[in-house]
Amino acid sequence: ELKENTVIVVFGASGDLAKKKTFPALFGLFRNQFLPKDVKIIGYARTKMDHEEYLKRVKSHIKTPTKEMEEQLDAFSKICTYVSGQYDEDASFQNLTKHLEECEKGWKEANRVFYMALPPSVFTTVTDHVKRNCYPKNGLARVIIEKPFGKDLESARELQKAIEPLWKEEEVYRIDHYLGKEMVKNLLVLRFGNAFLGATWNRNYIDNIQITFKEPFGTEGRGGYFDEFGIIRDVMQNHLLQILTLLTMERPISFSAEDVRDEKVRVLRAMPTIEPKNVIIGQYGKSLDGTKPGYKEDDTVPKESRCPTFCALVAYIKNERWEGVPFIFKAGKALNEQKTEVRVQFKDVTSGIFQDIPRNELVIRVQPNESVYIKMNSKLPGLTMQTVQTELDLTYRRRFSDLKIPEAYESLVLDALKGDHSNFVRNDELDASWRIFTPLLHYLDSNKEIQPMEYPYGSRGPAVLDDFTSSYGYKFADNAGYQWPQTQVTPNKL
Ligand code: BG6
Repeated sequence: ELKENTVIVVFGASGDLAKKKTFPALFGLFRNQFLPKDVKIIGYARTKMDHEEYLKRVKSHIKTPTKEMEEQLDAFSKICTYVSGQYDEDASFQNLTKHLEECEKGWKEANRVFYMALPPSVFTTVTDHVKRNCYPKNGLARVIIEKPFGKDLESARELQKAIEPLWKEEEVYRIDHYLGKEMVKNLLVLRFGNAFLGATWNRNYIDNIQITFKEPFGTEGRGGYFDEFGIIRDVMQNHLLQILTLLTMERPISFSAEDVRDEKVRVLRAMPTIEPKNVIIGQYGKSLDGTKPGYKEDDTVPKESRCPTFCALVAYIKNERWEGVPFIFKAGKALNEQKTEVRVQFKDVTSGIFQDIPRNELVIRVQPNESVYIKMNSKLPGLTMQTVQTELDLTYRRRFSDLKIPEAYESLVLDALKGDHSNFVRNDELDASWRIFTPLLHYLDSNKEIQPMEYPYGSRGPAVLDDFTSSYGYKFADNAGYQWPQTQVTPNKL
């Protein structure tokens, strides 16, 4: 339930994440009246700035195409204030508490939500100081934390050890923003709400599953962060593994947070660690036409960096449902398009009456243009028995044309305000996910002779990619002419 008398404190308020995601999400919730009526939002960061300057930053990524939205943004500005202070001094946090108390004047209780939009280097210090100086005496405390949650199993455990004595697990909300995406939230409904999918959802009918993440831009401007992490830590150990978990877990007893997360942890624990022989890595170079820079041309990236900006790898699940099915993850920056999707390839149908009839594929398009379609064989209308590959197609923009798809962060911030943990990462879940990836990460980090394969900025990735996917059983359809007739409907305005 949503608590009245709540203040949200955004740490790292002058940073990129806060500007690009947190404030726009808070504004989205505010204008649709999803925030508690009396809510106040305090920004906190080291930068000294006055109120005007601060508001400019808050608004920098918020679009207000209508008069009504402009007015809503004005109203939103009135609940926003800013406090500057250090991240490692009690006095600064006591000053914040003073400001909190002013905001809470006249309230029966004082609930405080602390949103940590912070770099990992200051994260523990801040949670520690907040606990000591700003913990509510009369109301709930919630702390929302952002990735990276460590760099490997050991550092993730250390981070957890630092948080544990201070914050109860029920007070902690670890964001993986992919869990807030509409299509990711749909996965359990698709699987468990449809008998025909439920019945075929196993190793007897499914040959392989691909989970693909592609971005058409490089790491320009984020090289410093990225080079330390690389694509595997940046999107695979978290976002793509979350998708895999929801795709493969057993049916939870209910949709309650702990029932869902218990099943997620269970399937993660059935996954062996990723073996280096099932992995290829790449790094982007200059685009073929020379207009886009290679990864290493970024000034913040070391000249001899071996950091992968592309990776394809295969994971397995050792249980009755999935034994032997390859789960092919592909993720890359600076590729030819933007797309996140799941592609479930079913086994060949029994031959005999057909020759070379293509496999069924279920495609779940997470973004952009949310859709679910099944590639299906059908008789080509006419006087012959010729078959054709067609599709059953649920394209959101066509089917749900007057519904707005919420931003992931809107959905998650609202969940945190309501105290719903379902779409946040539990401590043991994090541990289980790092266990799967850590040996591979250490192997890649420490073997200096392993060089990522170069691919041109704007291409599909390293040249060996298609051979890699087909070596795990993925079959490219013979009638290569098939193309999903994607409806290009313009997105709903708001
Ligand atoms: C972030 C990664 O977690 O997710 C980024 O750090 C990546 O590198 C981003 O670009 C992708 O999120 P989305 O919502 O744009 O798909």
